Amino acid sequence: MPRRPFSSASPTVPIPINDTPRTRSSPSSRSAASKVAQFFSSSPKAASSPPGYLTASASLLAAQEQSNARAFSPSVSLPTISLSTATADKTSDTPMMLFSPPSPEAARKLARQHAEFGPLGHASHQYVSQHPKGAEIEHPIEDEPPYYYLLTTYISYLVLIIFGHVRDFFGKRFKVETYKHLKAQNGYAPLNDDFDNFYVRRLKMRINDCFARPITGVPGRFINVLDRTSDDFNQTFKFSGTSTETLNMSSYNYLGFAQSEGPCADAVEDTTRKYGLSSASSRMDAGTLDLHTDVENLVANFVGKPAAMVFSMGYGTNAAAFSALVGKGCLVISDELNHASIRFGVRISGAVIGMYKHNDMRDLERLLREQISQGQPRTHRPWKKILVVVEGLYSMEGTMCNLPALINLRKQYRFNLFVDEAHSIGALGPNGRGVCDYFGVDTAEVDLLMGTLTKSFGANGGYIAAEKHIIDKLRYSHAGSIFGEAPAPPILTQISTSLRLIAGEVVIGQGEERLRRLAFNSRYLRIGLKRLGFIVYGQDDSPIIPLLLYNPAKMPAFSHEMLRRKIAVVVVGYPATPLVSSRARFCVSAAHTKDDLDRLLTACDEIGDVLQLKFSSGLAGGAIPLVPGVTPEMEKERKQRRTLVTVPPRWPLEEVLKRGVKDIQVPLR
Ligand SMILES: Cc1ncc(COP(=O)(O)O)c(C=O)c1O
Repeated sequence: MPRRPFSSASPTVPIPINDTPRTRSSPSSRSAASKVAQFFSSSPKAASSPPGYLTASASLLAAQEQSNARAFSPSVSLPTISLSTATADKTSDTPMMLFSPPSPEAARKLARQHAEFGPLGHASHQYVSQHPKGAEIEHPIEDEPPYYYLLTTYISYLVLIIFGHVRDFFGKRFKVETYKHLKAQNGYAPLNDDFDNFYVRRLKMRINDCFARPITGVPGRFINVLDRTSDDFNQTFKFSGTSTETLNMSSYNYLGFAQSEGPCADAVEDTTRKYGLSSASSRMDAGTLDLHTDVENLVANFVGKPAAMVFSMGYGTNAAAFSALVGKGCLVISDELNHASIRFGVRISGAVIGMYKHNDMRDLERLLREQISQGQPRTHRPWKKILVVVEGLYSMEGTMCNLPALINLRKQYRFNLFVDEAHSIGALGPNGRGVCDYFGVDTAEVDLLMGTLTKSFGANGGYIAAEKHIIDKLRYSHAGSIFGEAPAPPILTQISTSLRLIAGEVVIGQGEERLRRLAFNSRYLRIGLKRLGFIVYGQDDSPIIPLLLYNPAKMPAFSHEMLRRKIAVVVVGYPATPLVSSRARFCVSAAHTKDDLDRLLTACDEIGDVLQLKFSSGLAGGAIPLVPGVTPEMEKERKQRRTLVTVPPRWPLEEVLKRGVKDIQVPLR
């Protein structure tokens, strides 16, 4: 893989050691009194800092800076090799070339490769995704904005809903033709007249240009968004025939395998020539190829289970799995934020469903005790089976399941455990083998490991891995496999080649580098956003980073501002999130470089000021690392004694970019 010597595009404005951060603001205690005070304050930034804080913070910073200076000799500055037109480099207008590309064609090829997968900037831009041994697993704190922000968010929705109903009321009477599909006709009930329809027409349609933007080409490090305009308030779009190359923060391309060149693409091309595009049958009939068996063995080995089965769709894997595993007389206990495919699959299985608060192990234990003591409804017979279903990494929150706690409960209450690793397989753990790998848990402790091949592997479909007898049962009882199409040959080759690459079999070291870059990028971006003052959700090692926007009007504003800066982001609102917590969701990839993330942080900093999005109170992090000699316990104790004030982080961008690489190596605060 081509490598570029270290050249940070980030502005590295030197900050004097005992300089105070420019825009620090007041500490925000979460007491009721301060919340009320906050409610009446126009912005948390408006308040002033307590005396003493700045000095304490500055001296802490100074101590840390001094230790940094001792431990970190400045990196050797080499000239930039600027071969990719796609980078966000701002260091020099006329880059010095270490060597000239052999031909314009070769330069174009390299630029294309780098637009799909950026070169590693520096060896220090890597990290190992692993839960620190023996460390407590704490559910990440969800910070909150001031009350007035939540209030205006509710009012925004209220205004939209009232206006929508008024327009519908008059529209149905005065524009009969336009609204006829919403009214009963000739005795036929309208199929469209529900709240979903109202929500789409009156709320989503207003900002519809931010959703489902058509793209072209490979969704790699950069993504080409087709340019379009609308003259009728997003009812229809006109395409100009051009496209804009944007930094891609929106695809689930965790390990950067969305590529049109390289070992995967070559192997896929060979397979297509040998096998064609389809096995033209279901697995049960004549559709099982040698490729299926190969991939299933590879998946089983990779996740650490005796057997595995692959399916042509991740959603369909879950949708049909539960009917094959549980039924009448069984209990399925599900995390409240589980994916729609799980909820759908469980609902059609016929099992009784119990739900517990997201990642709340106490609530799960309470439910288990209640259900085990009560048994089945009416008869009070013991449940035939109890299956607890969780996700490894939650795609809207960026939170991980508390696997060690789940394993302890499993031992105590003897239930079966199903973990959906759609977003964690490939993305977490020192070997990319998901949450078990990340927490150092034996895979034998989890009964069923499900995952999708769509995300980290740049392919398509899903898998279930378990004991051989369970997989044998699924082969004849999973409706999606019996009645559905078998996974296609090129897809199977993409899966097997990417798995071999991750394991270091095809190109030695490439898989490891991808995993480490993803881990670095995830932590680097997260700590940067927290320090700038944004409220972000999720665990520190999560490659999914939701940045909270709250107000519905801020979704299109954020999306448009990002697009103007040529950055593609996904914004998500109700019903995919609770009504008040609309968000932008950044998906980090191994294909991103540090320069890309600096570009994103710069854009967020600017937009965050304009849209007033910097609301973090400091409770959920963003502080400088603890100076040597200060332990987390000491800090906790000082907080309990109220001698340490939590400070809302509002770091200057320059400082965020300057410190990030080193600071992500220690526990994030
Ligand atoms: C937790 C979870 N399970 C299953 C799926 C469905 O996977 P696919 O998109 O591959 O169909 C998703 C999709 O995002 C998911 O997040």
